[in-house]
Amino acid sequence: MTILTICGSPARHSRSGALVAHLSRALVSAGHDVHAVGLRDLPAEDLIGANAQGPAARGLRARVERAGGIIISTPVYKASLSGGLKALLDLLPENALAGKVVLPIATGGSPTHLLALEYALKPVLSALGARIILGGVYATDKDLAVLADGEVAIARAIQDRLDHALREFSAQLSLLQPDKGVAADAALPANAFAFPAPAGNRVVSATSDAEPPRVRSGT
Ligand SMILES: Cc1cc2nc3c(=O)[nH]c(=O)nc-3n(C[C@H](O)[C@H](O)[C@H](O)COP(=O)(O)O)c2cc1C
Repeated sequence: MTILTICGSPARHSRSGALVAHLSRALVSAGHDVHAVGLRDLPAEDLIGANAQGPAARGLRARVERAGGIIISTPVYKASLSGGLKALLDLLPENALAGKVVLPIATGGSPTHLLALEYALKPVLSALGARIILGGVYATDKDLAVLADGEVAIARAIQDRLDHALREFSAQLSLLQPDKGVAADAALPANAFAFPAPAGNRVVSATSDAEPPRVRSGT
């Protein structure tokens, strides 16, 4: 199954983006074809000018069309989704997310804006035709750290939520395409994130032991 990740942070070392990259690695290991698009893949003028006719927007739409599952992440900005992500989503047609399984992810500086997923991001996804919108995962900055080597250290509680979200995502994908989808049980092992826990409540994704992820970026 083709999966597209859409990351809505403008930051180069993005926490929300790191969470998605972490999920992508698990999905690639489960046999999915994962593509990634971020704000930096689209010209700023197209985002600001809502230029839906340009080649970047056309490329984005083609990628969304091909995907059965979408993971969409955003940092919380002023109690809402990032403006950049909204600008990117504005380039999509009304029913762009119809029939797709959508997993929302958000990170914020504090737990106060946990519900931004519900009152800010999900209504936009719904306006784009999404009807299979999973519960999603919210993490605060204290819950994770992007390490110098690009790996992400994640608190155990968030790890468990990600694990659950991935299982749900995988199960819904296999319902979409039962003949081609990876069966829910087979798609993710009992502990999809069974990476060594070096200390305390941290779990670090061990990319060094795994096959290089086939995560492609760009539109
Ligand atoms: C402009 C701006 C506005 C922010 N507004 C909020 C906010 O309203 N609530 C919150 O919990 N965190 C807020 N934050 C903190 C970010 O959501 C948080 O650090 C997030 O993890 C950043 O994700 P990223 O690294 O993927 O960009 C804000 C950060 C910035 C830069």
